Amino acid sequence: MNSFRLIATFLCCIAVVFGVLPLCSNAQLDPAFYSKTCPNLNSIVREIVRNFTKIEPRMPAILIRLHFHDCFVQGCDASILLNNTATIVSELQALPNINSIRGLQVVNRIKTDVEKACPNTVSCADILALAARISSVLSKGPGWIVPLGRRDSLTANRTLANQNLPAPFFNLSQLKSSFAAQGLNTVDLVALSGAHTFGRARCSLFVDRLYNFSNTGEPDPTLDTTYLKQLQNECPQNGPGNNRVNFDPTTPDTLDKNFYNNLQVKKGLLQSDQELFSTPNADTTSIVNNFANNQSAFFESFKKAMIKMGNIGVLTGKKGEIRKQCNFVNKKSSELDLAALVSTESFDGDMVSSI
Ligand code: HEM
Ligand SMILES: *[C@@H]1O[C@H](CO)[C@@H](O)[C@H](O)[C@H]1NC(C)=O
Ligand SMILES: *[C@@H]1O[C@H](CO)[C@@H](O)[C@H](O)[C@H]1NC(C)=O
Ligand SMILES: *[C@@H]1O[C@H](CO)[C@@H](O)[C@H](O)[C@H]1NC(C)=O
Ligand SMILES: *[C@@H]1O[C@H](CO)[C@@H](O)[C@H](O)[C@H]1NC(C)=O
Ligand SMILES: *[C@@H]1O[C@H](CO)[C@@H](O)[C@H](O)[C@H]1NC(C)=O
Ligand SMILES: *[C@@H]1O[C@H](CO)[C@@H](O)[C@H](O)[C@H]1NC(C)=O
Repeated sequence: MNSFRLIATFLCCIAVVFGVLPLCSNAQLDPAFYSKTCPNLNSIVREIVRNFTKIEPRMPAILIRLHFHDCFVQGCDASILLNNTATIVSELQALPNINSIRGLQVVNRIKTDVEKACPNTVSCADILALAARISSVLSKGPGWIVPLGRRDSLTANRTLANQNLPAPFFNLSQLKSSFAAQGLNTVDLVALSGAHTFGRARCSLFVDRLYNFSNTGEPDPTLDTTYLKQLQNECPQNGPGNNRVNFDPTTPDTLDKNFYNNLQVKKGLLQSDQELFSTPNADTTSIVNNFANNQSAFFESFKKAMIKMGNIGVLTGKKGEIRKQCNFVNKKSSELDLAALVSTESFDGDMVSSI
């Protein structure tokens, strides 16, 4: 912790004592936030993610993406988890999420066990942040210290989800501005895109690159021809757009630097991935080369960027609430008596269905 932050924290304490807390709205997250109130939090999250990963190797990828899609829309506040109700227009039906977001049952299962151990204490937003870190470690990626103390939103915003989440056909300048809007720089963009070193993508999201790129009638020239044939096999023209393809043909379930080596040989799956390396004269090409040559350089930047992303627009202090059930705000939960509903949820193979 630097001295500026120490001083800021000290002034905040004074502010609390003198009852002028609103002047001190810039509350900080703290890795030790639950050390007294929920000491076993980490191991609860770890065990459930580990168990589900045995059934579904893609689970760590699914969970990291969930944290990303949460943070880019009104901050890391678990807004992505909210279901449709009379007052909530769920983000789950936004274009980047619909038929795409998974793992909600796993999050609910974690929440149920965490509530048993430490009732009304741990936010769903913090569970997403912890699950993301554990997912990285379980996939041989780096670990980092997760700042905690986020609170859960009372709102969701589907419009904002459509607006803020980057699309797979974005060019480099669109990617940069999407990340800049969240306070993330070019190194963060390249490092976080490295999450596409595991998990899967549906054919419909890149099939234009295989047959008719930018309406040219030709494949994307930045696609390796052998890889192109492989992808055409997996994704026939006018075929089922919901077939899923590995992001990383070399190590599909490992969080490693291979994503960047793939880009160097024109084997990026999404246009938005390959743009990072193949855009002429781009400042991102040398960052890709650095990460491709040096996994610790990638890991260092990835950790830093994940923490930075995890800090976006967080609710702290008395803002928001600690949800009892992650899919509903508490007012709604008590109406529906969801406590009863949730505790009957079973630990089965159905956890990858979208809700
Ligand atoms: C840079 C802009 C990004 C774009 C355009 C993008 C786009 C996409 C798309 C289109 C998919 C496939 C979805 C589907 O098949 O339904 C996907 C999957 C995925 N994304 Fe991204 N993404 C970006 C950044 C990120 C970031 C920052 C992370 C995490 C830090 C991330 C993690 C993932 C993971 C792990 C998957 C695989 C999920 C699974 O297997 O279900 N992505 N992304
Ligand atoms: C995880 O799996 C182990 C081994 O099968 C089992 O003993 C344990 O109870 C499981 N944990 C949870 C939380 O389901
Ligand atoms: C949440 O919404 C989906 C449809 O949007 C529905 O299928 C599901 O049952 C809802 N979950 C709960 C717990 O009500
Ligand atoms: C959602 O975000 C948009 C864009 O920032 C904003 O105009 C709108 O008021 C928000 N809607 C809700 C329900 O918060
Ligand atoms: C990227 O796409 C935007 C929107 O389509 C366009 O205005 C811009 O010129 C493109 N940038 C490059 C470098 O191609
Ligand atoms: C490519 O797409 C454009 C626009 O949809 C279409 O007019 C054209 O016929 C397509 N070309 C081929 C070879 O499919
Ligand atoms: C790789 O990156 C790490 C972390 O940034 C750095 O300390 C190290 O010197 C780099 N190694 C080489 C061979 O450049």
